[in-house]
Amino acid sequence: MKSYQKLATDLPQPPDAYAEEESIARKPPYHRQLSTWWLCVGLLMVAVLLSGVTLWMLKQVPGDQLGQTPPEKCSAVPEPFRFDCYPEWSVVVTKELCESRGCCFIERVQPRGNRSTKPWCFYPPDFPSYTLESLNQTELGMVGLLRRKVKAYYPRDIERLQLSVEFETDTRLHIKITDSTSPRYEVPLEVPRATKRAENPIYSLEFSKEPFGLLLRRRASGAVLLNTTVAPLIFADQFLQISTVLPSIFLYGLGEHRSHFLHSLDWSTLTLWARDVPPMQFYNLYGVHPFYLLMEEGGAAHGVFLLNSNAMEVVLQPAPALTWRTIGGVLDFYIFLGPDPNMVIQQYHQVIGFPAMPPLWGLGFHLCRWGYGTSNETWQTVKAMRNYQIPQDAQWNDIDYMEGYRDFTYEPEKFDTLPQLVEDLHKHGQHYVMITDPAISSSNPPGSYWPYDEGLRRGIFINTTEGQTLIGQVWPGLTAFPDFSNPDTSQWWLENLNRFHALVPFDGLWIDMNEPSNFKDGSVHGCPWGEFDNPPYVPAVLGGSLSSKTTCASAKQRVSVHYNLHNLYGLMEAKATASALIQIRGKRPFVISRSTFPSQGRYSGHWLGDNRSKWSDMYWSIPGVLNFNLFGIPLVGADICGFSGTTTEELCTRWTQLGAFYPFARNHNYLNDKAQDPAAFSSVVRTAMKEVLLTHRAHLQGHTVARPLFFEFPQDEITYSIDKQFLWGRSLLVTPVLEPGVDSVTGYFPRGVWYDYYTGTSVNSSGESLKMAAPLDHINLHVREGAILPTQKPGSTSWVSSRNPLRLIAALSQNASAWGDLFWDDGESLETFEKGAYSYLVFNVTQNVFTSTVLHANVEATYITVDTLTVYGVRDEPSRVTVNGKENPFSYLDNQVLTVSHLNLKLSQGFSIRWQ
Ligand code: NOJ
Repeated sequence: MKSYQKLATDLPQPPDAYAEEESIARKPPYHRQLSTWWLCVGLLMVAVLLSGVTLWMLKQVPGDQLGQTPPEKCSAVPEPFRFDCYPEWSVVVTKELCESRGCCFIERVQPRGNRSTKPWCFYPPDFPSYTLESLNQTELGMVGLLRRKVKAYYPRDIERLQLSVEFETDTRLHIKITDSTSPRYEVPLEVPRATKRAENPIYSLEFSKEPFGLLLRRRASGAVLLNTTVAPLIFADQFLQISTVLPSIFLYGLGEHRSHFLHSLDWSTLTLWARDVPPMQFYNLYGVHPFYLLMEEGGAAHGVFLLNSNAMEVVLQPAPALTWRTIGGVLDFYIFLGPDPNMVIQQYHQVIGFPAMPPLWGLGFHLCRWGYGTSNETWQTVKAMRNYQIPQDAQWNDIDYMEGYRDFTYEPEKFDTLPQLVEDLHKHGQHYVMITDPAISSSNPPGSYWPYDEGLRRGIFINTTEGQTLIGQVWPGLTAFPDFSNPDTSQWWLENLNRFHALVPFDGLWIDMNEPSNFKDGSVHGCPWGEFDNPPYVPAVLGGSLSSKTTCASAKQRVSVHYNLHNLYGLMEAKATASALIQIRGKRPFVISRSTFPSQGRYSGHWLGDNRSKWSDMYWSIPGVLNFNLFGIPLVGADICGFSGTTTEELCTRWTQLGAFYPFARNHNYLNDKAQDPAAFSSVVRTAMKEVLLTHRAHLQGHTVARPLFFEFPQDEITYSIDKQFLWGRSLLVTPVLEPGVDSVTGYFPRGVWYDYYTGTSVNSSGESLKMAAPLDHINLHVREGAILPTQKPGSTSWVSSRNPLRLIAALSQNASAWGDLFWDDGESLETFEKGAYSYLVFNVTQNVFTSTVLHANVEATYITVDTLTVYGVRDEPSRVTVNGKENPFSYLDNQVLTVSHLNLKLSQGFSIRWQ
């Protein structure tokens, strides 16, 4: 008998080129049988429900213990439908072990490199699961009782569960499964609650009693979006698992990981457990986002969010099917029915909270490095940027500004001029952001370091199981970790930041190392043996243990044990930080966090961590940015030019061109690497970088959000796998160069007319890939037909630009119309929308007339004028142009571009421009 070993040290194993191909498009007969079976169950269900009876029986429960399955029954399960019964990575799965769980053991030819995660030990079709014993109507939906008659194999298997279903809106369904007798830990996240049951849901839900299962359908298409009977439901205290078949292979989300935007369903396991590690494929990274989006056949989409903060795995397999496996909490699902992908995301964000409006300067170009060494060197960099007139909105400092790497201090000699530097930045309309790590130095003589002494006095640090402050090690040496689940910690954090702000009036905060990262595993004394640090099942986390490079899972926090709260550490710190910034500055907070969890967009943005100065890393940034757009954290970007390793002029130029279109654009560099700020390069490169940063600055689109192409073209399946191009907002297509030594790039253009952003020359695409010139000083940008983009003469900072006159670009559709809008406020005040302190304008073109209509106005818009209107796609040369009825000069080019300039029109007043 052969066996194979899953090694804890190099988990999880990536699928590789040697893995046997599975046809994932083909629907296996097993799936068809299931569908037919489900149809019967569904019909029966409807009949039963209509007759008012809530209980029914389809099959008998197998014996009262886990039995052995005859080999024919095992081999009849098609490979794509084999659900792993022995996922333990550190165990050699043998026939005996597998059968002790009552599962099927079938060896397969081991692919070279042993990289496949296709299970050898899998559930037989009749593996015992729960039975739905009752189902009753409630005000919002239904509540049911599930009972397991045969224990599964994990300790503290829970016999009775409560199922609650709430039809929250016509497009949102909430399904929760938990222990019916004892309360369990639930994520302390405020989510909106429905008050009445949806009246016309666009979905229908059916139940199977035996084994218990759910089947969710989209009414319009009949598509089955979830079918959880494919594998048994398992609900033990520290092992919860539910599987479903998926209606297609087009699955996105599930972060934070380094992966292509479109996930592979060819047996991959995605682990979710916040972790400090330079991004690598297949490993758990800094943040946790248990949310997926799936494109169904025909362009509809749905999304599923599992509100659970425990360590978990999501297994993808080619059935296509997905398994959620978590080691705590409850199974709390929100399902969003769209029907289009934009609506799915909007519905998801309604639950987790919409992202905060960042200050305008936050969207500009930011410069950082670890290792400026002194405040004067930092200042020199800023001055060089100014000297070359390269736009820069914010200057950052990394940990080297601190004294002994201790938070809320600055190095008195090397950074002695830091306050003056910040003052100088402010004088130039620029901003200052510095790093703050959560870990607080704990080895100072008593009375010498207020943050630690006071933190200790107030009892705000994370404790060991024995109630002592848990001590780990981070940059300053021995450290304690603030417990942000304790409200007193937020107050202490605010006071610390306030004291430091009095010395160095920073504008924004960079919160790093907040997984929380620890150079020791668990603590300087390790972790005690027990249910939290040694749970019955450990997901395939990097390092093989929950305490790897973080605090002990058993550590005590105010709200719960760290085991439950670990993945929320960054979120809770971000919330405290944003709130402190509001109290200190009274303006929109700017916070960039490394660790994130759903709802974080309300408090912070994110950067994609410690990438490398490599061409492939530049590519990986695009799926990363797109994913965080799904996750509700649109203020996101990667370290431009790469963090570690030495960049090259060519890479850094191309990366700056792409990075200018990251919603959060920061060039950041590692301690020992050569300078890579734009001013450090040759004049040719400098100019190319400057140009693109100016172009970026020229855009005023309210929603500077990177979007996947399929969000705008959901009917076009070719767009489903595109992650080398993206849209900025709805209408600007960005096609970066992602490889060295080329002067052209090929990009896909969905059906329709696209205009070259710079020249207005059009291409009418039938949905095709086109090769375009892409010399080193050029990034391809195209405007979608029908869009109107407000642009602005660029300045050295966002604030300077924001005072300049506007140029409006109207890109006519094939029926010669266009539409656009503009939200305009002062770029930094809090709640401008809520207080009505903004202007909102709508632009339209129909029948050769451009109209600007002011729907809401405030004083800000009175400072701004519209200088130029450029119309792309004017087929016939006009003989006359009038502005508000008066004749105006204009120019017209052969490529069908009409330009009307010297307008000097007030943005705050409506106007019309006609050509004939
Ligand atoms: C890790 C962060 O990811 C990186 O950006 C930073 O430079 C270092 N910590 C030092 O603070």
